[in-house]
Amino acid sequence: MIEQSELNNVSFYEKHSKSIRAWHWLTFVIVTLLLLTVLLNYNILDSTINAPLFKKILSQSGTIINDKQARHLAKTIENKIWTWHKYFGITLSFLMLFRLISEFVQPKNQKIFVKLKKSFDLYRKKDINNDKVLIKHYLGVKSIYLIFYILITIMVVTGLILTYEDDYSFLQTFSGIARTIHEYNMYLILTFVIIHIGGVIISELGKFKGIVSNMINGGK
Ligand code: HEM
Ligand code: HEM
Repeated sequence: MIEQSELNNVSFYEKHSKSIRAWHWLTFVIVTLLLLTVLLNYNILDSTINAPLFKKILSQSGTIINDKQARHLAKTIENKIWTWHKYFGITLSFLMLFRLISEFVQPKNQKIFVKLKKSFDLYRKKDINNDKVLIKHYLGVKSIYLIFYILITIMVVTGLILTYEDDYSFLQTFSGIARTIHEYNMYLILTFVIIHIGGVIISELGKFKGIVSNMINGGK
């Protein structure tokens, strides 16, 4: 187990406040649910696949419906899942607001910007030899978190535009571009989630045993 370096004061064994831990695991659940709703609507509930299917199944039992009715039927089911997606999305928006507020109120050494600045300053120092690899790794991981926070903020802003476009007509001006950004941003978020979970598991099984329980119990 690698201990915290007294010299450089950068370590993955750091404390996580109650608010960050609660935020982390709730965000994990909500992002998973959001991705699940997309998975459903992009696959088994996709109305472009289901409309002709419903039409065929109904015609086999003697009920004839036209393409428009079939599309309407399939869209109704798809829209029910999008409604759930909106609820989860609004929950994620509140979670991000909570994360922003907790950044200001949590202990200084747990703030992401303080961690980034500290590791960046240490990385630039010429006299560090032993822990250069650790500092580079730490700086890389924390920078990825910052990028992730930016990506989620983009998701929240574009998601809110899509949620309220029918209520506030001025939002319709941006809804096309918001939808495109929202859709493509998902792939970046998916990439983060895969790299993050993979990285955490590799670390837990390798050099940094105990980091996951630190995210549960807060760390020493
Ligand atoms: C991890 C976060 C999220 C992911 C991966 C995600 C993904 C997606 C995807 C792929 C679509 C379909 C876009 C299309 O093809 O038209 C979509 C639609 C939508 N999303 Fe999200 N989203 C996320 C967060 C949010 C948030 C935070 C909100 C609201 C605040 C939101 C609200 C919506 C709405 C209203 C739609 C349009 C649904 C419809 O067509 O009726 N999403 N989302
Ligand atoms: C949707 C899935 C997930 C998202 C969006 C997510 C997001 C994040 C974010 C943003 C941070 C940085 C928190 C900070 O500001 O300090 C973080 C840290 C962490 N996450 Fe996750 N996480 C997810 C899933 C998981 C899972 C499944 C695990 C455990 C297997 C996990 C374990 C950890 C650990 C141990 C840390 C602290 C690592 C460190 O000190 O750098 N995460 N996560």
